Amino acid sequence: MPVADSALRRSLLSLALGAFATLGLGPAARAGEVEVLHWWTSGGEARAAQALKASLQAKGHQWKDFAVAGGGGDAAMTVLKSRVVSGNAPAAAQIKGPALQEWAAEGVLASIDDVAKAEHWDEVLPKVVADIMKYKGSYVAVPVNVHRVNWLWVNTAAFKKAGANVPTTWDEFFTAAEALKKAGITPIAHGGQNWQDLTTFEAVVIGVGGADFYRKALVQLDPATLKSPTMEKALATFKRIKPYTDRNAAGRDWNLATAMVIRGEAGMQIMGDWAKGEFIAAGKQPGKDFICTPAPGTAKAFSFNIDSFAMFKLKSDANTRAQRDLAAAILSPEFQETFSLNKGSIPVRLGLKMDKFDDCAKASAKDFVDTARSGALVPSLAHGMAVPAAAEGAIKDVISQFWNSDKMSAKEAMDRLATAARTR
Ligand code: BGC
Repeated sequence: MPVADSALRRSLLSLALGAFATLGLGPAARAGEVEVLHWWTSGGEARAAQALKASLQAKGHQWKDFAVAGGGGDAAMTVLKSRVVSGNAPAAAQIKGPALQEWAAEGVLASIDDVAKAEHWDEVLPKVVADIMKYKGSYVAVPVNVHRVNWLWVNTAAFKKAGANVPTTWDEFFTAAEALKKAGITPIAHGGQNWQDLTTFEAVVIGVGGADFYRKALVQLDPATLKSPTMEKALATFKRIKPYTDRNAAGRDWNLATAMVIRGEAGMQIMGDWAKGEFIAAGKQPGKDFICTPAPGTAKAFSFNIDSFAMFKLKSDANTRAQRDLAAAILSPEFQETFSLNKGSIPVRLGLKMDKFDDCAKASAKDFVDTARSGALVPSLAHGMAVPAAAEGAIKDVISQFWNSDKMSAKEAMDRLATAARTR
């Protein structure tokens, strides 16, 4: 009986579809998994990474965490290389600045222009940021936030105890350091890892020489500027900081150095505003428990560090869809706000309200715009924004050797810097 037969089949089919719908299997069939490589493992960073995971899961997809600990991301980049070489790239990886171009040139990144177009990225992103995310005119990465690197973090109670004033110049910085030392407080919390040494150094170079000098020396890598009297002064100032750090600084992670300032064991730290994420995660309030102030002499400059995720070519359609959903979610206004509130950064998307942000973030947002106009917005060398990875690595090594050596003169360091700058 064909009629009854087909009626039976239809009702069985609708029963089955109903069951799928009840179990939520319909959308799940379209759900995918996104493996995300990042190095956000400290307290504040982990809270921010959690927000990213939640926004992907809210779209019905699965998050596969691929966290490689190590501030600054050098360890993560080493692991990423071996995964890609073995043909097993993650869906998304935290890759920044000029390195995006290097990865794209290898042919392993996917164009995400479809998402960018649908979400109007060209309109909601500053052009300077959009350009970093594009390879040959196509988006291959999505920016997450903007970090300012040239900050000084101050423990208010420690400064009060020492009778020290928050410094705005390098002279005032060393006066404050002396006062803290006399009060039995470690003046500068530092972690002796090469990227942290370079983070401090680039702040000193901007503070001593100004933004134009920094750009000429550490972005354009001009040999004469790298060997100039101003560079010699910057190196001498940098080296003068070392005696104010403690004996256990070697190898210390940046967030443990921040914790020293949070606890008041140390008075100051020179670090990007991911450090603020640690203060916030520890329940501390800006302006009360701690103060954020531009690193000495750098109030009119902004060294930027933009976190971004590069998207790799994938074979599975479901995973590709999930990857695109992640890219779209990252630039949504809601995510932009939640993420930066935890991370210590500011949103990268233009035109968002800053009401929920603290004064450090508000100052950062204003200075980002002002310095873009004045020409004092500069890419951070220590955080992969300024030069290709090979030159950055070589410069990083020279600066650390200079910091750690009792014998290397500033003149010798300058010669070595000029050689390192030529590394390709
Ligand atoms: C990254 C930040 C991160 C910091 C410390 C920087 O290079 O851009 O997102 O919090 O390193 O790990």
